[in-house]
Amino acid sequence: MTTTESRYDVKDMVLAAKGHDRIAWAERDMPVLRQLTERLAAEQPYAGMRIAACLHVTTETANLMLALQAGGAQVAICASNPLSTQDDVAAALVERGIAAYCVKGEDSDRYYSHIESVLATRPHITMDDGADLVSTLHLKHPDLLSNVVGGTEETTTGVNRLRVMASEGELKYPIVAINEALTKHMFDNRYGTGQSTLDGIVRATNVLLAGRVLVVAGYGWCGKGVASRARGLGCHVVVTEVDPTRALEAVMDGFPVMPMEQAARVADIIVTVTGGLHAVGAAAITNLKDGVMLANSGHFNDELDIEALSNSAKTRRRLREFVEEYELEDGRRVYLIADGRLVNLSAAEGHPASVMDMSFANQALAVEWVLANRGSLEPRVYDVPTDIDQQVARLKLESLGIHIDSLTEAQQGYAAEWRSGT
Ligand code: NAI
Repeated sequence: MTTTESRYDVKDMVLAAKGHDRIAWAERDMPVLRQLTERLAAEQPYAGMRIAACLHVTTETANLMLALQAGGAQVAICASNPLSTQDDVAAALVERGIAAYCVKGEDSDRYYSHIESVLATRPHITMDDGADLVSTLHLKHPDLLSNVVGGTEETTTGVNRLRVMASEGELKYPIVAINEALTKHMFDNRYGTGQSTLDGIVRATNVLLAGRVLVVAGYGWCGKGVASRARGLGCHVVVTEVDPTRALEAVMDGFPVMPMEQAARVADIIVTVTGGLHAVGAAAITNLKDGVMLANSGHFNDELDIEALSNSAKTRRRLREFVEEYELEDGRRVYLIADGRLVNLSAAEGHPASVMDMSFANQALAVEWVLANRGSLEPRVYDVPTDIDQQVARLKLESLGIHIDSLTEAQQGYAAEWRSGT
């Protein structure tokens, strides 16, 4: 580990060269962010701004950090999950002048000390993923709040937490919910989490997915992605839900739907993506088959009741880097992947660059929007403005060389008419 007093805390600066190559590889598949970076460099909309980011430190995130820097910001970053950092990327960022505080596998104390380091830069803008940065800022450093112009939040769980803060009157500055942009959750959560979750499970275990019963807990944007990709790989997919509409959607998409306690009896692999607590709880654990694998791709490692699993185990041993075997009292073996942390970012590389291109273009544009509207925004959660969302979609289509039709004047008139029917 290489540590210096103030500018960074990363695993090893020797890794930087590999990080630079991998960041450049991701950049090839981020044409929207690339185009935006060129404009930001010319216009300097973030000049003089200090941005504190708490994000998964991946190659794609690195490209966002570099875009913010190109636009004039001074940037510091820490990880939004203890297991999601790519250490080579963190080292490369330091070499590119970004203060990075993140080490893959850091414990909880170090994770929070890194959040403190980023907050110590006295940010004007916060860029969060899961709301740990924003909650720490509000709970422990109210003195810093007056500096903050606004923020952004990347993920569903963070947006949910911020809405609770706002409803309790505790949120003290405006935050844009990036997750709510269509060009974010329709692609990042669905296709990004869908593919990379299975990538994480495969890299962790090398298991053959074809023919396995894979249970997906939660049929939201991420769950739909995991279910459809798993079906494509030959799994028999079963869905569990608590929301009747989403359960019905899963039924009509062709998946068996049942309670988790029942699904646990047939599962070879269970993936949780609910954003909630204990989708696989103590009762389901008593029903698990011998040899089942448990993985989570939701933001926090609360979705599997790991404490109940530990309590019912007589032995535990690590079999592979990201696989821990729990042998239960009755001899059944349960394999927990990546300690129940986001499997796609812990055991694989997270979402592919092509979808993060859109999520992070929304991030950069939302920061610009917050700064342009400084002083006129309220301390609440804002959706990404529709024109930003549509601009990102248009640029992505252009980058793919895809053209679409536009409405003629007659069609626009027709759409605006209510008097004439059949
Ligand atoms: P969503 O709100 O669209 O879907 C969650 C679904 O889970 C809902 O349909 C809800 O009814 C269901 N649910 C809640 N509790 C449940 C339970 N106990 N059993 C079964 N179903 C339950 O949320 P989204 O966007 O799909 O995100 C899910 C989680 O994944 C969040 O924590 C989010 O932050 C995280 N996320 C993770 C990513 C990754 O890279 N691994 C990327 C994007 C989001």
